[in-house]
Amino acid sequence: MKKQGDLYYPTPEFKEKALANDESVYEEAARDPVRFWETRAEKLFWFKKWSKAFEHTPPYFKWFVGGKTNITSNVFEKNSLGWEKIRGKPAVVWEPEPLEEKPRTLSYEQLFKETCQFANALKRMGVKKGDRVAIYLPMIPEAVVAMLACARIGAVHLVVFSAFSAQALKSRLEDAEAKVLVTADGYWRRGKIVDLKTSADEGAKGTSVEKIVVVKRTGNKVAWTQGRDAWFEELTRNEKDFCEAEVMDAEDLFFILYTSGSTGKPKGTMHACGGYIVQAFWTAKLIFDLHENDVMWCTSDIGWVTGHTYAVYAPLLNGITSVIFEGVPDFPAPDRWAQIIEKHKASVFYTAPTAIRMFKKFAGDATQKYGFKTLRLIGSVGEPIDEESWLWYFKGVGKEKCPLVDTWWQTETGGILITSLPGVGPFKPSYAGRPFPGVKAVVFDDEGKQCKTNESGNLVLLPPFAPGLLRGIYKNPAKYEETYWSQYGKSVYFTSDGAFIDENGLVRIFGRVDDVLKVAGHRLSTGEMENAIEKLPQISECAVIGLADEIKGQTPVVFAVLKNATAAAVASPASPAAASPADDFKKKIVDQVRKEIGPIASPKEVYFVEDLPKTRSGKIMRRILRKLFTGEELGDLSTLANPESVEKIKQSVGLK
Ligand code: WTA
Repeated sequence: MKKQGDLYYPTPEFKEKALANDESVYEEAARDPVRFWETRAEKLFWFKKWSKAFEHTPPYFKWFVGGKTNITSNVFEKNSLGWEKIRGKPAVVWEPEPLEEKPRTLSYEQLFKETCQFANALKRMGVKKGDRVAIYLPMIPEAVVAMLACARIGAVHLVVFSAFSAQALKSRLEDAEAKVLVTADGYWRRGKIVDLKTSADEGAKGTSVEKIVVVKRTGNKVAWTQGRDAWFEELTRNEKDFCEAEVMDAEDLFFILYTSGSTGKPKGTMHACGGYIVQAFWTAKLIFDLHENDVMWCTSDIGWVTGHTYAVYAPLLNGITSVIFEGVPDFPAPDRWAQIIEKHKASVFYTAPTAIRMFKKFAGDATQKYGFKTLRLIGSVGEPIDEESWLWYFKGVGKEKCPLVDTWWQTETGGILITSLPGVGPFKPSYAGRPFPGVKAVVFDDEGKQCKTNESGNLVLLPPFAPGLLRGIYKNPAKYEETYWSQYGKSVYFTSDGAFIDENGLVRIFGRVDDVLKVAGHRLSTGEMENAIEKLPQISECAVIGLADEIKGQTPVVFAVLKNATAAAVASPASPAAASPADDFKKKIVDQVRKEIGPIASPKEVYFVEDLPKTRSGKIMRRILRKLFTGEELGDLSTLANPESVEKIKQSVGLK
């Protein structure tokens, strides 16, 4: 990219070969967004064409009404590049964490066969269209196989991040009433084996799960329940390697993906078959400018939506190669990620600001020795990226030649909705960019009036909504209406993000306006953490806030009000030989969060306080707690029921 004034534009060399390189695609979409998506959908394979492209009965909507398709047909036999052309080509390249272990490559044909075998195995277990299958797997090829196998037979997958705790798994299994759970014996993390099967067993206890399928990954010893547990390899070995694709209605439920809810109960976002395919395919094609020989490495775990769409479905729909990596990008050395880019000749690299900040801090110098010659394009997702990190990423990794797409989207949107197209631009550090063609993203003030240029407000989406946008919250229509369609009426999708749009039409996102935290790019809710902590009998109440963190973006901090007896105990001083009772209890709280949610949610700090600032109606004012740390003006405290609590908190946490 080249800088002109404040803005960056693609280089002529990039532009020349780019799939979209002028305003025409934006103009076409603006003239008739429904028609825009419709003509794009026509490029995919459908068993039967739709009768109507978009139907809106607020707050519900449908896309490609009456259309019939299957995503796996579009990945395999009916791939847009042609099956003969892709069958021998690498579909998935897997990099295990241990360096001494060899990577594994699955061609499209091998992936197809394995998918069909597992699809047949699922059928043999009695899994039918519409049944829910939970996938609690690390980043190994079988995770991709399991997702595709579900899609092949119309089973609804719910992927649960493998670093989530047994308890978090359980609540998802219960909500989805999953019939089968696919897991592994373990996986490698920072040189150690993580025992996944034990968490899977614990999570499945007392739920509707009838069968647990276990992939042998690490060979560690696992507990076994005869009749319920089966090895993946044994189940699939003798199955036929072809399975007919289930004919799916465009509006059939494709998958559920849970995000943390505000009260501790996770919300199952529902995605539909037809619209998701169209959006995944086209956003990836145009935003990552995918050409036949691209090798894309999206570093997100499949447990998150980014992994679903841009590590699995979108690259495969586009017939390119997707790199997946079992480990963490900085193990065993801080430049492991750079080695992977070079080793697998990645041409598209898509990661999160947290990772970028970490690379910059710990591998900044080492990065200079890498030429990254194969890279054509780099991307960022998941949280706002600050200007300094943007510039480092652009120079250090993109070598100032690769376009850097900062992509905004959400679990709910299924695919990217805001980012400038790489062959068109413009780009500006820390700005997500322009809405994708056909997407109407605007900023509203609290009254629902459209904000002026550069005026901050709430980011909303207007109809026609992108085809991949969620269709509901599983078994909870009230939550769906309340969360997304109640702030400005039933035809305006509320994103929960604060934003403004500048004079160039570029959207600047500054983060969530609700109780969601982005910790190292992972989406967590403060309510969910509070709920977990309040399960401890010694806690009377608590509040969790997110504070800025140099690497992780945000990090959770807990304010806990203890019940009297415990408060007295933690106030007693430490004996010379042992940690203080206060430290012990802080650890207990941290452990509780790890147990209920997972290590990614570990609070950075726990403060014991006497009281929490509340409104007269009893609402905890987390905003005030946050401001205590950021040094912002606290504002008028007289509306609080207990204004004196603020001064006391300041003292007990040692703030001036
Ligand atoms: C945030 C991840 C700024 C935002 C795909 C959103 C971003 C939430 C960006 C969704 C970005 C995502 N710039 N913020 N480029 N991308 N976000 O569901 O707050 O894990 O609402 O989906 O991440 O997180 P989720």
